[in-house]
Amino acid sequence: MKRIHIRGGTPLSGIIPISGAKNAALPLLAAGLLTEGTLTLDNVPNVVDIESMLALLAELGATVETDVNTGTNGSGSGFGLSVRLSTPAIRSTTAVYDLVRKMRASVLVLGPLVARFGHARVSLPGGCAIGTRPIDLHLKALQAMGAEVGLDAGYVEVSAPKGLTGAVFTFPSVSVTGTENALMAAVLARGETRICNAAREPEIGDLARCLVAMGADITGIDTDTLKVQGVERLGSARHAVIPDRIETGTFAIAAAITGGSIELQGTRLELIGATADALRQAGIAIEPTAHGIRVARRDNGVRGVDVMTEPFPGFPTDMQAQIMALMTVADGAAMITETVFENRFMHVPELCRMGANINVHSASAIIRGVPALSGAPVMATDLRASVSLVLAGLAARGETIVNRVYHLDRGYERLEDKLAACGATIERADD
Ligand code: UD1
Repeated sequence: MKRIHIRGGTPLSGIIPISGAKNAALPLLAAGLLTEGTLTLDNVPNVVDIESMLALLAELGATVETDVNTGTNGSGSGFGLSVRLSTPAIRSTTAVYDLVRKMRASVLVLGPLVARFGHARVSLPGGCAIGTRPIDLHLKALQAMGAEVGLDAGYVEVSAPKGLTGAVFTFPSVSVTGTENALMAAVLARGETRICNAAREPEIGDLARCLVAMGADITGIDTDTLKVQGVERLGSARHAVIPDRIETGTFAIAAAITGGSIELQGTRLELIGATADALRQAGIAIEPTAHGIRVARRDNGVRGVDVMTEPFPGFPTDMQAQIMALMTVADGAAMITETVFENRFMHVPELCRMGANINVHSASAIIRGVPALSGAPVMATDLRASVSLVLAGLAARGETIVNRVYHLDRGYERLEDKLAACGATIERADD
């Protein structure tokens, strides 16, 4: 089994190129199904979740060509892919269990398939390590546009043989992929659709801008009300995926937790607003540079700060485990409250095994900073929890061994290479 070995204690210093956002690239790839033309995406991160999505699209009948990243915002970094997708005709409208089980975001093909082909059959994702994660809101949005929804043998079957019709749909609670599915369905629906209480994550703005480049008519981009005038068909386009704000935040914390200074290139400060605010309150310096941002810890260490996760522009749940790792070595106490997902504290017992002092009371964790963590063999059950253990390992005394590396490979492109380039003692071993 593959593991990552880390010898902690070195302040990291240097440059890290930030990859394209996985959570933007996934819906953008699914959007390729909406046109008979060609969608070319640059700055696609080369991670396992993207491989899974490309495999799903190929199985549905798309032609997929990948190349080294040739787009302007990623070229030269040596990271990422350019992907050319075309789906003149479909072979299947079924997303099978084996693919959906591996990656829940497979559900993103639902909206495009129903919108263009009038039918989709997608395996229900089932439970996962961060709670039950239902897709009822995705289905309600499609039903509002006239789709019929049935359940058969663990698959949800959605059909609209005469096409979808524009509607007003208000999300009762904010859902990122739910909004993306509704938006991708609405662009080919007859008439006007208004999506209210839409998620405002930057990845949704990125999807909307790409859809507009393909010929969609969308207004209200980046707000909580998306207005869509359906069009008959979409055409070809080329689009560069936005930088990954979660990867940016993760490496910002790598600088902070090790007392180092890292320039994160190819990213933008405005993408990490709430994370940057929390880090600054904790005493970390963050400044824009000509090529991205620089994150550095001042000599007086890290202060404890309270954080509550919320939909964008609030503090992202996908950064909760990483900021908790930082708070374990802060001066004073911190309270971290998780409001987006139930059961998203799986990293807590592992951090405690490394010497952290954390108490969980329902949706909140109280972290009392300790002078130092000590390395240990650890493992985690999801992507962000795993990376929080890597961050803790970079700061800990002695050796940390992170098991279940496949979680990290789902969402971080060559994590060890990027950290090692800044002086970290980190390597992958097959033992
Ligand atoms: C996306 C991100 C994920 C991130 C999350 C929250 C992708 C591929 N994944 O996931 O990394 O952690 O946003 O920022 O972009 N819910 C329902 N019914 C639904 C849909 C969601 O009850 O139909 C609930 C969920 O259980 C959760 C909350 O709504 O409690 C928010 O989930 P949602 O925004 O949908 O997360 P994802 O889109 O799955």
